[in-house]
Amino acid sequence: GHLRHVESMATLPSGAGKISHLNAVILGESLASEEDDLVFPSQEFTSQALVSSPEQYMSMYKRSIEDPAGFWSDIASKFYWEVKWGEKVFSENMDIRKGTVNIEWFKGGRTNICYNALDRHIQAGNGGQIAIYWEGNEPGQDGNLTYSQLLEKVCQLANYLRDIGVRKGDAVAIYLPMLAELPIAMLACARIGAVHSVVFAGFSAESLAQRIIDCKPKVIITCNAVRRGSKIIYLKDIVDSALVESSKNGTSVDVCLTCENQSAMNRESTKWQEGRDFWWQDIIPKYSTVSTIEWVDAEDPLFLLYTSGSTGKPKGVLHTTGGYMIYTATTFKYAFDYKPTDIYWCTADCGWITGHSYVTYGPLLNGATVVVYEGAPNYPDSGRCWDIVDKYKVTIFYTAPTLIRSLMRDGDEFVTRYSRKSLRVLGSVGEPINPSAWRWFYNVIGGARSPISDTWWQTETGGFMITPLPGAWPQKPGSATFPFFGVQPVIVDEKGTEIEGECSGYLCVKNSWPGAFRTLYGDHERYETTYFKPFPGYYFTGDGCSRDKDGYHWLTGRVDDVINVSGHRIGTAEVESALVSHPKCAEAAVVGVEHEVKGQGLYAFVTLVEGEPYSEELRKSLVLAVRNQIGAFAAPDKVHWAPGLPKTRSGKIMRRILRKIASRQLDELGDTSTLADPGVVEQLIALNDC
Ligand code: PRX
Repeated sequence: GHLRHVESMATLPSGAGKISHLNAVILGESLASEEDDLVFPSQEFTSQALVSSPEQYMSMYKRSIEDPAGFWSDIASKFYWEVKWGEKVFSENMDIRKGTVNIEWFKGGRTNICYNALDRHIQAGNGGQIAIYWEGNEPGQDGNLTYSQLLEKVCQLANYLRDIGVRKGDAVAIYLPMLAELPIAMLACARIGAVHSVVFAGFSAESLAQRIIDCKPKVIITCNAVRRGSKIIYLKDIVDSALVESSKNGTSVDVCLTCENQSAMNRESTKWQEGRDFWWQDIIPKYSTVSTIEWVDAEDPLFLLYTSGSTGKPKGVLHTTGGYMIYTATTFKYAFDYKPTDIYWCTADCGWITGHSYVTYGPLLNGATVVVYEGAPNYPDSGRCWDIVDKYKVTIFYTAPTLIRSLMRDGDEFVTRYSRKSLRVLGSVGEPINPSAWRWFYNVIGGARSPISDTWWQTETGGFMITPLPGAWPQKPGSATFPFFGVQPVIVDEKGTEIEGECSGYLCVKNSWPGAFRTLYGDHERYETTYFKPFPGYYFTGDGCSRDKDGYHWLTGRVDDVINVSGHRIGTAEVESALVSHPKCAEAAVVGVEHEVKGQGLYAFVTLVEGEPYSEELRKSLVLAVRNQIGAFAAPDKVHWAPGLPKTRSGKIMRRILRKIASRQLDELGDTSTLADPGVVEQLIALNDC
């Protein structure tokens, strides 16, 4: 059975190079079932692990479920609270049938996440430890900050923000690339109780404007430009247009604090609006390096982060302070088996939730040393990641399957040319990791030594929900394994009935956990409708999941109209609305198709206005409309001209059929007789290659 496979895996020479491909085939594709393939952590790893056996996990997990208040308050007590929380550790109503959905953790407690992430370690004597190693886009361009230095920079910015009138509860928009200034800005906001709203610097001016209009920040923090790989992106220009757009809408932002990123662009060539725009470098260093702390309630908001849903405009996911702090810190520690000697690198951008929870807050709350990388992972070549790993002796490396697949395609030589021997834990996030990418990550990158934590979670969950604890149990390539402490995942059927044992269905969560989001900003009703109405009594994740005979969880992707492109979450409705805004587009329907590197790609069916001929030029301008309205990462991979779309008699587009056409599964179109005009399907198939 499996033992033989496991043994052959364990004896793979490290840096096995090309052989590993062969092994992947032997080990993987020849197996009867993925489920049976167990990969054990080594004895060496287990013996030092924080959680080192299934039994130890089970007893901790059991307590976290039976006594969540005791379990989480024991952990929370290790953090600094100016005032301890009230009598109740938590209170929740997750059942919409019983009234308003409401989740609170550590209410009444007063704390500050910046204090816990920085000052606390310095007070414990660790101020001299490196907090951030910053690596620039160009090899050789780097810098670092100790915990004390980081705190000083955070305090200076915090003092400035206060000085220009930013107060507790005010929103601050941040539109920055991966400069050290990005986590600095987040922490400075947290220090004064301001609510940060980081917008990924790949979003277009229109998307940025939309977010500004929604959260009405007093100030926006950006930089003039950034280099990503060989490209230069002029961020300040994007901010300028976003601010024009938002002021048309009645939202004006008084201050644009701009970091001069000299490696990309000097200040002389930067467009400037006197009175509104200020150079970070000219102002911030003048402020004091000490600043007072705004103690906030555990339930005071920490940040807003916009994410895509299946309908309508992006949702402002709101996280509060106390529970999020405890949850990100604890999940980071256990899922990565974190030790003070670790050097940690997460390739995510702080513009997404992964960067919030596992570049900034989770690691710093643990006093970790974090690598922050500005550039593209394959610049100047596909070996860059391992160059960085060797340079900083990275021990924990956390990334997304899309990067693994793209590097895998570039060949093993880029990997094996580096030592990588510092690595001891690997992590994956953003989408299901296919078993062959898992094996390549494990064997080639990790030299078959380092367990992989395949962490399943969401913007909404704040932190890991289903994840391996790397020393605790054997892994199965492609499975996120078991729930984290305090999390009760359930799989339900169409009717919302829990299914036990081996099964597949919709993934829901039964009880609250400290890191759960509390609302959608300004729209609690949408929060309830989207997440708590579909299956009353539960939080509905939007994901499909199956559980195998051993209880391992296998995430199967979104079951709604959300698509995961390279781990970026995109709502089909948003892309459709961008396409339809084009004057020559009458109607559009977007579906996801399997994509070798991106996981999923965007496939757009487009109906043009009457009499408009198809052309390559038009295709390009449609794609440009999406780039302009959302961002380059949301550009459709394929535009399929559609004289008509398959609709039911009541006018509903049948996406099921479009998905089959897009993936060329033409023999699986199913019943088309309910269509208002079954002929459109033939037409679509005929126009496949236009
Ligand atoms: O479909 C799941 C997928 O990413 C979605 C959440 O996207 P977002 O809020 O942008 O957060 C991404 C980073 C946490 C989920 O609904 N997803 C995330 N991690 C995994 C995953 N699917 C499978 N396995 C994972 N490890």
